[in-house]
Amino acid sequence: MKKTTSQVKILSIDIGGSHIKATILNKKGELKMDYDKVPTPAPASPDNLIKAIKTLVKNFPAYDKISVGFPGYVKNGVIKTAPNLNTKLWADVDLTKKISDALGKPTQVVNDADMQGLGVVNGKGLEMVVTLGTGFGTALLMNGHLLPHFELAHLPVKTDKTYDQYIGEKALEKYGKERWNKRMQKVFEILKTVFNYDTLYIGGGNSDLLTFKLDKNMKIVTNADGIKGGARLWIDDVESKTKREISTPTE
Ligand code: BGC
Repeated sequence: MKKTTSQVKILSIDIGGSHIKATILNKKGELKMDYDKVPTPAPASPDNLIKAIKTLVKNFPAYDKISVGFPGYVKNGVIKTAPNLNTKLWADVDLTKKISDALGKPTQVVNDADMQGLGVVNGKGLEMVVTLGTGFGTALLMNGHLLPHFELAHLPVKTDKTYDQYIGEKALEKYGKERWNKRMQKVFEILKTVFNYDTLYIGGGNSDLLTFKLDKNMKIVTNADGIKGGARLWIDDVESKTKREISTPTE
């Protein structure tokens, strides 16, 4: 019997530089369980990553579809770069197919910040989402529609430093919270002037460490908010099929 929309369950997976998180959502994006996590394997090769995901979801309740956020440039479900995992191991890997074959359900893979963005925006005007973690994730959405492939992380912010190097996890560890906060203030000034967004959402594990006052149109969002984006990917299968690659398991 075909499931009604409200019965469909989505396994939403967020692959990060330090952890892989996953939960089960309904189509409205409500979490049906607390999200669980395992450390990202080292080396983070495709095979090791698939193994870690299988272990993570082994005892999860049943699900019908899978959404994955990946920390790199993803084109039509195929990985192009993986700056914080290892681009050499990942370039042109069809992760969508690998996951749908490994877990046996229709799968979509998008950039991690894009998935978070879909989970947190309210669909009004130009909304920007940044994630502060191992790398600097960035997503732009216009009236709720994602403008994909946006990788601000790799633009130089200073002569010798990209955004990833300037405010990523390594910089935080090296220079400490105070200097990192000063850098974040500078970055937010740049984003405000350059993008003229209506709302800026700030997610990722390190967003908790911001100590300065934010403008009214800047909001901190949680990882649990972000992972909800996994449901948005499946809201309208017909529409999403025309925009993204969906892989169904090989028999
Ligand atoms: C990657 C982005 C990713 C971000 C956060 C950056 O290094 O280039 O694709 O969204 O890290 O994981």
